[in-house]
Amino acid sequence: MSLKVFASEALANFYTVAAVAPSSPHLAAAMVEPLPLSQTLVAVELGAGTGTMTRALLDELPREATLIVFEINPRFFHYLRENFHDPRLVLINENVEKIETELRTRGYDHVDVVVSSLGLGFMSEEQRRNIFEGLMPFVRPHTVLTQYQYIHSMQFANGRLRRLSLRPLLNRYFSSVKSKIVWRNVPPAYVFTCYPQRTLT
Ligand SMILES: C[S@@+](CC[C@H](N)C(=O)[O-])C[C@H]1O[C@@H](n2cnc3c(N)ncnc32)[C@H](O)[C@@H]1O
Repeated sequence: MSLKVFASEALANFYTVAAVAPSSPHLAAAMVEPLPLSQTLVAVELGAGTGTMTRALLDELPREATLIVFEINPRFFHYLRENFHDPRLVLINENVEKIETELRTRGYDHVDVVVSSLGLGFMSEEQRRNIFEGLMPFVRPHTVLTQYQYIHSMQFANGRLRRLSLRPLLNRYFSSVKSKIVWRNVPPAYVFTCYPQRTLT
């Protein structure tokens, strides 16, 4: 069922869904593995779709944690509301560009971990800036963010189609960005793990 919902929304809204299928469990595992989830109280997910990452996060987060999920697509939001019944979950049917207001009005002043599945490559520079400048006031030295990107990712820039790497964008906001490839996903993807401060390894 989740595949059917995902595929029909991917066709209708390709530029925001930015994928043809939900992430594989392997990609979800690679996105949550670098996160210190057992010590996390405030987790944020950006772009949940039908909830592959949401499930992986809820499986690992402590009982007293909160998982705040942003999903812009009304059909995915409805799907998540119907299929995820967990007191730790706060579902927000809103554009991530509004993250600062949405977190402040709920009383949050920091986030411990962030999992982003946003198709940043399909967004304008202005949208990307709005998202990160809205998020960064909540990032503390211990905060860890993961973001994935399909290995073939391209973008239009100055009228030309180019390969896009998210690394320069992520390095603008995070001092240390590590990456690995997850082959067991369609298509394979890089997982970027971002730290606000330099890490030793
Ligand atoms: C590539 S899909 C990933 C879905 C899911 N996390 C997964 O890995 O299978 C990206 C998701 O981000 C959502 N999205 C895109 N832009 C958004 C925005 N500005 N604000 C909130 N959600 C957004 C899309 O609707 C879609 O559900």
